[in-house]
Amino acid sequence: MKTEEMDKNLEIYNEGSKYLMNTYSRLPVVFVKGEMQYLWDANGQKYLDFIAGYGCLNVGHSNKFVMGKLKKQIDNIIQSSNVYHNKTQVELAKKLCNLTDFGEKVFFANSGTEAIEGAIKLARKFSRDKYNSDKYRIISFYKSFHGRTLGALSATAQTKKQEVFKPLIEGFDYARLNDINSVKGKINKNTCAILIEPIQGEGGINISDKKFLTWIRKICFENKILLILDEVQTGFGRTGEMFAYQNYGIKPDIMVIAKSLGGGMPIGAIISTDDISSAFNPGDHGSTFGGNAASCAAGCAVIDYILKNGLIDKSREVGKYFLNKLKEIKKKYTIIKDVRGIGLMLAMEFREEVADILVRNALKDYIILNKVSDSILRFLPPLMITKDNVNILMEWLDKNIGDLQK
Ligand SMILES: Cc1ncc(COP(=O)(O)O)c(C=O)c1O
Repeated sequence: MKTEEMDKNLEIYNEGSKYLMNTYSRLPVVFVKGEMQYLWDANGQKYLDFIAGYGCLNVGHSNKFVMGKLKKQIDNIIQSSNVYHNKTQVELAKKLCNLTDFGEKVFFANSGTEAIEGAIKLARKFSRDKYNSDKYRIISFYKSFHGRTLGALSATAQTKKQEVFKPLIEGFDYARLNDINSVKGKINKNTCAILIEPIQGEGGINISDKKFLTWIRKICFENKILLILDEVQTGFGRTGEMFAYQNYGIKPDIMVIAKSLGGGMPIGAIISTDDISSAFNPGDHGSTFGGNAASCAAGCAVIDYILKNGLIDKSREVGKYFLNKLKEIKKKYTIIKDVRGIGLMLAMEFREEVADILVRNALKDYIILNKVSDSILRFLPPLMITKDNVNILMEWLDKNIGDLQK
């Protein structure tokens, strides 16, 4: 361990606390280099990463293939303007449509939140144009997370995040996940869309039941309601399929993606059909940086890398191994309430508020963990994580949970 005087992490941490707004409970380590599932801090110490930049690095840190394509792109052109087509944006849109079995048109934004905002606008415009001006309400779910701008926050049914920023945007109704009657009670003639994460990420890795999501798809068809899937966290192989909806045998009307599409570059996108997308006309929506050539070059490379390197199969296979190991640990300690997840989107829930201490202690042992609440650890590692990497974590969890339960 470094003494305080020579700790470069602490030096940057202290300066950061002075100059940056206090919107995150930051930990006293600063990462200056990354390579796939590993990170190095400012003192040169290596760490094993189980959160991948909040799930935005399915292809790993500074993936050499993706960075190579990005460097090549920025040597040519980064940005023109969306008044002109850019070749890389067109290429990425085509790839995304080909990857999904419903997508025919794409709109590019800079983040998941922005893409959610665009999807809300698209659903409202389409429904108003096609049906009537009162069809504008959107049903979303308790414990969901869709972003922090006012529209996305209004869809994010978490009182704690919303309360101090009221008034929110009008037109959102909240239902309980996996509760058909709760959704039925919210549908009315004004409902234009249902917005759902197939697996809630920030809410604690809560998985939609197959029966529930299939029913949602059916009820949307029957009531001329659009199904918007938020795959910002679940996309690009995270759940053992390219997109989580492919685990369910359904298709959305609108899908929102972001995070891992960019391989670390900021990007978000809305994908939909020709019919629904036709509701947007010039001037209805836009973004200066959305679809810039640099982010799109990274996006194209991410898709190619995932497909060429079998990352989806790895996510499924190592994910199964990971979950089984978590289950083995759960059997040993009563303090663990539940372990759950699909692919490499996993959680361990405790009966007590021990998540923070585990995250902090793991960091001291050079393992990067993440908590989504005081009692839930979430695991979203880069998809090339190995079984040996998982074993290192399991040994650590076994010892440290054992110490906590004594
Ligand atoms: C499911 C989901 N939707 C939307 C967002 C917002 O995305 P961004 O942080 O890129 O704006 C997130 C971010 O964590 C997310 O997990």
